[in-house]
Amino acid sequence: MLASDLPTYFNWVETARDYAQNRIPVRLGLECDWLPGCEQWITELSGKAEWDYLIGSIHYLDGWNFDSPHLLKAWEEVEVEKAWTRYWEEYSAMARSGLFDFLGHPDLIKKFSYRPHGDLRRFYEPAIDSIAKAGCAIELNTAGWHKPCEEQYPATDFLSLACSAGVPLLLSSDAHAPGEVARDFDRASTLALEAGYRETLLFEKRQRTQIRLSDL
Ligand SMILES: [Fe+2]
Repeated sequence: MLASDLPTYFNWVETARDYAQNRIPVRLGLECDWLPGCEQWITELSGKAEWDYLIGSIHYLDGWNFDSPHLLKAWEEVEVEKAWTRYWEEYSAMARSGLFDFLGHPDLIKKFSYRPHGDLRRFYEPAIDSIAKAGCAIELNTAGWHKPCEEQYPATDFLSLACSAGVPLLLSSDAHAPGEVARDFDRASTLALEAGYRETLLFEKRQRTQIRLSDL
């Protein structure tokens, strides 16, 4: 999305709010790419509107859009262990930046099922440590169930560790079409409860409200 497209986006959200009246809350959010040197840009962006939330996400590693199906061939040429190491280093740095209300699809790096050998908690633990220290929340993102990895983001081990570390969680469907809004939330809610979570979050004007998962 170009910066010049922002006014159009704001207009869409206003139109949706007018149409929804008080029937559905319509929030203004943005998923922001964590890219080298983006901090100043994100800081400026945060002042450009009355955002309800800003999401931090990683889709690019050293210029490679690793989650693009069009660049899938690159996965055959990289060292998976190194790609994962870079991903989680950047995920920690993104958490430490403190710029985002929550962090998107925590283990998107597994999208095409390229995973290093062994126990993956060696990648999760340092990242969760950074997220917990930064006081950031994370998504339980249901889109992963519909991708080649056929698993929610993040993996169940990550969820349990994040819960133990006190990292707050929210449910997200990462909808790219109206029919995908809140897709699989029942399944996600059950999984979150199994991981030890009792609450999820809502955001308004960059403030969190906790609600009980059992009240969804
Ligand atoms: Fe994303």
